[in-house]
Amino acid sequence: MTANAAELREIVDGLSGEVKKISPKYFYDQRGSQLFDEITRLPEYYLTATELGIMRDNMDEICALVGERASLIEFGSGSSLKTRLLLDHLPALAAYVPVDISGDYLHACAAQIRDEYPHVDVLPVVADFTQHFQLPSPAITPVRNIAYFPGSTIGNFEHDAALELLRVMHHEAGENGALLIGVDLQKDPKLIERAYNDSAGVTAEFNLNMLQHLNRDYGANFDVTEFAHSANYDQDNGRVVIELVSQVEQTFAIGNTEFNLANGEAILTEYSHKYTIEGFADMVEQVGFSVAKIWTDTQCMFSVQYCVRA
Ligand code: AVJ
Repeated sequence: MTANAAELREIVDGLSGEVKKISPKYFYDQRGSQLFDEITRLPEYYLTATELGIMRDNMDEICALVGERASLIEFGSGSSLKTRLLLDHLPALAAYVPVDISGDYLHACAAQIRDEYPHVDVLPVVADFTQHFQLPSPAITPVRNIAYFPGSTIGNFEHDAALELLRVMHHEAGENGALLIGVDLQKDPKLIERAYNDSAGVTAEFNLNMLQHLNRDYGANFDVTEFAHSANYDQDNGRVVIELVSQVEQTFAIGNTEFNLANGEAILTEYSHKYTIEGFADMVEQVGFSVAKIWTDTQCMFSVQYCVRA
């Protein structure tokens, strides 16, 4: 990926406000995607394994609700085990439609899925899924559209942006459609903080890699050694606040634009919201969904939820 003007403006704008921030989407260059993959296998990062376990344990019920000849619309590229689990079990799928802004990565994932599932109509859509997009027309007319959003990625979005995104999902799901979504739950803050401060330091490397990404592709000149990873759970707002904290007073630049950072000043790189069952139900209800089914693990760490049109 190389820089484009709109992204550069977005980055500069984010660093120009009272609170300096860079969107979490800039985590995911090639190295960042690799590191995230490593995160999902860390013992402390309960999210991925727990969600996969919930899906495995309830696959029959999930399949019964989704029914035959659905179109599975994944928000994000989807090459994960969770996607494969669904493709392995959903009966007579009409189509699998992964939607992602990064065309190269999307098409690579789609090619791999086509290879492994030759009987599935794989119809990737290159789009920013936070805005309405045009759905493809599968050869087999779908009985219903299932918007699929695993991983609790919804947690990256602040309240209003999350509502906007849920609205898009409601729209893309259409009349008979539904939303199948992974939602991380509020729990003991120690467990949450551990998931974002792993002992192997992979999450720290993932966070710091964002600066390397900006150096490589966006003409920034960060000295990565002068930043430290920080992740704290803000219980009042139910979210992990992930930051890069300057270890010195320093100046950095993005192209020709210079920025100052005080010693101890932070750049916000990500929020990871954690929900209560009631809080999440409230959000989906605001966009016209109602929660039809919630599956959780025995410790109620994580949930997979099936939402239908209210
Ligand atoms: C991909 C957004 C779900 O919030 O847990 C993992 C990203 N950041 N470790 C999350 C992430 C640091 C992850 N999501």
